[in-house]
Amino acid sequence: MVTKKKTKFFKSLRFRILVILVILGIVPGIIATQLMIGNYKQQAIEVRTGEIRTQCAILCNQIIKENYLNDPSPESINSKLEVLANAYGGRIMLVDRDFKVVKDTYNVDEGKILISPKVVKCFKSGEATDYREYGQTLELAVPVRSADVPQMQGAMLVNVSTSAVIATVSELEQRGMLIVGIIIVLSVFLAYILAAVLVKPLARVTKSIEDLTDGYQKDEISVPDYTETELITDAFNKMLTRMKVLDESRSEFVSNVSHELKTPMTSMKVLADSLVGQEGVPEELYQEFMRDITAEIDRENRIITDLLTLVKMDKKSADLQISHMNINQLLEDILKRLRPIADKRNIDLILDSFRPVEADVDELKFTSAISNLVENAIKYNVDDGWVRVSIDADHKDFYVTVADSGMGIPEDSLDRIFERFYRVDKSHSREIGGTGLGLAITRSTITMHHGVIKVFSKEGEGTTFSVRVPLSYIP
Ligand SMILES: Nc1ncnc2c1ncn2[C@@H]1O[C@H](COP(=O)(O)OP(=O)(O)OP(=O)(O)O)[C@@H](O)[C@H]1O
Ligand SMILES: [Mg+2]
Repeated sequence: MVTKKKTKFFKSLRFRILVILVILGIVPGIIATQLMIGNYKQQAIEVRTGEIRTQCAILCNQIIKENYLNDPSPESINSKLEVLANAYGGRIMLVDRDFKVVKDTYNVDEGKILISPKVVKCFKSGEATDYREYGQTLELAVPVRSADVPQMQGAMLVNVSTSAVIATVSELEQRGMLIVGIIIVLSVFLAYILAAVLVKPLARVTKSIEDLTDGYQKDEISVPDYTETELITDAFNKMLTRMKVLDESRSEFVSNVSHELKTPMTSMKVLADSLVGQEGVPEELYQEFMRDITAEIDRENRIITDLLTLVKMDKKSADLQISHMNINQLLEDILKRLRPIADKRNIDLILDSFRPVEADVDELKFTSAISNLVENAIKYNVDDGWVRVSIDADHKDFYVTVADSGMGIPEDSLDRIFERFYRVDKSHSREIGGTGLGLAITRSTITMHHGVIKVFSKEGEGTTFSVRVPLSYIP
């Protein structure tokens, strides 16, 4: 549990923001201190070099004036050289043009020949500097010349200690580390708070969703803090609306089913009660009532069969018994079977076959789907009307239309007629007989065949259903 919580924290947005903010705080801090220290060191060395150079230039003037290189006896210059060497904690050597050491404040190398690279370089280019960090020394070779005698008479080799500079630098480095430490602590602290503030709206989204799932008191959630949270909550609200619609249609379906199943029961009960309540009922009345009861049982049976068909279709859409059928023949058979019903009301049943069509369909399901359309066209027709069925195809699909001269469907009912149990005029439809499941089954069947069904209707003029189904079935 604890480790899970830990890994969750490391995976969280809050942790990532924290890390980024800490890095953003620390890295510039470290770079800035390092740059500052480096800069200081360079400047300190430069200042020191400049100082020595100035002092040397003054001395050189005197050295030339008093011909010190040829005769290093004047005490004034000797003492000045000593003072200078002591002041910088180093050593000064004077070399003449023949590389002979004229003066050494350490009194070690006087009279010797010194051909050090620095001296040579100084004779060549006028000056040579060298800073050695590890030896903590600064070496400088300055030409001996003056404004009056610009030609180089010799070289002054100055070797001074830079330990003072190094000491200051290391002290600065310590202070820098302290500052970086403080920056780290501060930025971790600030980043922790900032990260918490930044992710808060997300936590609010979670909380709102949880509140909603716990209680359902509110219709929707709203966390407008960020554009992102707004998008999330909008999407969530959309899903919620869809769920509510589904929920409503489910409960409507259940109440419709119960109602439809109860209606025949009620009729049967009324019929049976009236027979039971009377004595000496005439035989004809008995028979008539029993016929009515049988009709109601048939009706109940049909509703249950239709419902089971629908439920099966919902459950498994791949359950089709596909065979290659002659669709023209299939339609002819349907019309032949329904012609007696149409004849009763003198309704003309016409089949327009524009071309022979063969296609992959489930014979039983497809027949009942089209039958329902033709049955409707007859049922909701006027006496002496007509029903026209047509069949046509292109290279991909075939088209069946069922048009009638009937009562038509009001515009506001057009997109509801495919719903289960939906009937336009309940009282009228009841008189005609039907449960409102037929079109739902038809549409399911067409969809299972990867087809499309559409309806066009004008109240009082007639209705046309058009069906388009692919010629070959690809599961
Ligand atoms: N051709 C049509 N002309 C006018 N109205 C129609 C037509 N076809 C369907 N309708 C309307 O659509 C409703 C739904 O039709 P559907 O076939 O689903 O149910 P039904 O015919 O009432 O009952 P069932 O087919 O289950 O016996 C019908 O009740 C009717 O109001
Ligand atoms: Mg019907």
